[in-house]
Amino acid sequence: MHMENVNEKGSGLELSTDTILDGSRFVRACLRRPVDRTPVWFLRQAGRYMQEYRDIRKHHTLVEICKQPDLAAEVTITAAEKLGVDAAIIFADLLLPLEPMGLDFEFQAGEGPVVHHPVRTAEDVRALRTDRADELAYVAAAIQKVARHFKDQLGIIGFCGAPYTLASYMIEGGGSRNYIHTKQMMYRDTLSWRLLLDKIITVLEQYCRLQVLAGADVIQIFDSWVGSLSLSDYRDYAFEASKRLVRAVQAMGVPVIYFGVETAGLLSEMASTGADVIGLDWRQPLDEGWRAVGHGHAVQGNLDPITLFAPIEIIEQRVKEILRLANGRPGHIFNLGHGIVPTTPVENVQAVAKMVREFRMEGANLEGTNA
Ligand code: CP3
Repeated sequence: MHMENVNEKGSGLELSTDTILDGSRFVRACLRRPVDRTPVWFLRQAGRYMQEYRDIRKHHTLVEICKQPDLAAEVTITAAEKLGVDAAIIFADLLLPLEPMGLDFEFQAGEGPVVHHPVRTAEDVRALRTDRADELAYVAAAIQKVARHFKDQLGIIGFCGAPYTLASYMIEGGGSRNYIHTKQMMYRDTLSWRLLLDKIITVLEQYCRLQVLAGADVIQIFDSWVGSLSLSDYRDYAFEASKRLVRAVQAMGVPVIYFGVETAGLLSEMASTGADVIGLDWRQPLDEGWRAVGHGHAVQGNLDPITLFAPIEIIEQRVKEILRLANGRPGHIFNLGHGIVPTTPVENVQAVAKMVREFRMEGANLEGTNA
């Protein structure tokens, strides 16, 4: 096979009856189907590092943007178009489902989210409501607008927090270093812990269904803080809940991306949830992470977001290294290992998107059958 052109449409792949549009490139990769090139998008691609977002933030709070579908859709679309990515993640926040459950929160400048009356007792858990998920319909309305705008050009990602990560925000009342309150409930009042996870799943299922019906092609479940758990604690206290949510969303007919950071020791267990795609952070090489996940799953990652501050030559080295480690195997979605941080130079993010779009593997494994 002549390797110079095998990666182009219609040459090495059977695409004649199955043309790859930009949107389906991303969804196909989630399902480990062959694609003409690796799809790319960025965690936190819409945010403060972008002037257009900062301009809107001058006049609206984060929650206001989330609750006004026109604004949320505009922020989502602007970021995706400016970067030239294959997928758009809906502009929303992990914490939004807390409100219909009965917990007030706010985002305090520089401090992240603060939940006013954190969940600490059995009674607090019992008081949480699960019957008002439809109040999150504003997220679905924004997705609908984004879907109408992009049609099939881009993949549209809906998202929610994973049960463990959302529970940790509800119990700690914000970000945490040691998750003492969370783990205390987990170990000492396991019944309340399980009831809490059940209630979270009940709300998230409805929330994800709203998003899928509105046009989300894929749902990403953010278990951002799951890396705080030992493997045993993950198995005993978090795995079942994640698995239930993953399966429930898949039953809605869309692939699921299950994301976490500092998860090197948890990857194989996380893959056992059955998620289609597992997020990888940058702390281990992509091929090692993929091996731990198992090649029966797709993976997403894994550039260090802070590498976006490096000189362009170093960025390019790291991007190509990741693409080479993926080795043309179907089921790699290029992304960062965690979100873009506020002072990141936009032009470097654009440059990475371009590098991925233009990358062609020498000696690519197009069949996807070899190890
Ligand atoms: O393009 C996008 O990804 C933007 C949409 C988005 C936001 N939050 C908007 C946001 C997404 C996907 C999230 C998910 C989210 N929110 C996660 C999971 C992702 C991850 O990073 O692991 C988490 C843990 C949260 C909770 C949260 N929201 C925190 C900890 C913070 C403060 C951190 C910070 O950067 O200040 C937020 C605020 C937030 N959510 C911002 C944005 C763009 C920045 C604050 C602002 O605009 O005022």
